[in-house]
Amino acid sequence: MMKIINLHEFPENPYSGELLPNERKHLFQWLIEKNPSIVFEIGTGSGGGSSFYILNALKQLDNNGHLYTFDPYNSKINNLYQNTPYNYLFTYYRFRALDKMPQLLSQNIVPDFIFYDGAEDATLSLMEFQLLEQYVKCGCIFVMHDWIIGERIDGNISEKSTLVRPYVEKSNKWDILNCLESQDESVGLVRIIRNDRV
Ligand SMILES: C[S@@+](CC[C@H](N)C(=O)[O-])C[C@H]1O[C@@H](n2cnc3c(N)ncnc32)[C@H](O)[C@@H]1O
Repeated sequence: MMKIINLHEFPENPYSGELLPNERKHLFQWLIEKNPSIVFEIGTGSGGGSSFYILNALKQLDNNGHLYTFDPYNSKINNLYQNTPYNYLFTYYRFRALDKMPQLLSQNIVPDFIFYDGAEDATLSLMEFQLLEQYVKCGCIFVMHDWIIGERIDGNISEKSTLVRPYVEKSNKWDILNCLESQDESVGLVRIIRNDRV
């Protein structure tokens, strides 16, 4: 059942990160709606900012949910969250997602919510997406940042979704639920759901 979180419970974020304010709110709300058991975050980042919303949602949901977060470049998340109420809610792997996820997936640690904000490498992103696709069940939510291909509000161009986006848009396995693309609020944040048609 969906838990209703009041607006005053939307948390102030003490950590740095790369999501825009509107993207943060959506990510948080989508987590609350899904009430996930296992969250994978690909691309922890150094500042712990996006992980904060995942962890805060898991804490508020209080459903024994757990975050597995991957980043090969020495995220500070373990230090940042030491001595906080979130410390026991996550496991950080200093690995590329593609190198660590197979072990977890084969142990039946399969996410029902994925936040993808990882490699600036279109081929690797597609490989990671297609690996997850083999395991996730119907109803799994996949949220991807940097969904806009080409120049965005911040003047940057991201490679991240160059191959994943057309793959998803043609796929009959996924339905697009939301797509934030308005230049004044997002660099592209998409929410898709694994359907049961195939
Ligand atoms: C845009 S940053 C993430 C920002 C973070 N999500 C936030 O909002 O605070 C992308 C991160 O992905 C990491 N990364 C690159 N390749 C990766 C891979 N194959 N698996 C996991 N993380 C990866 C980078 O080291 C970088 O820290």
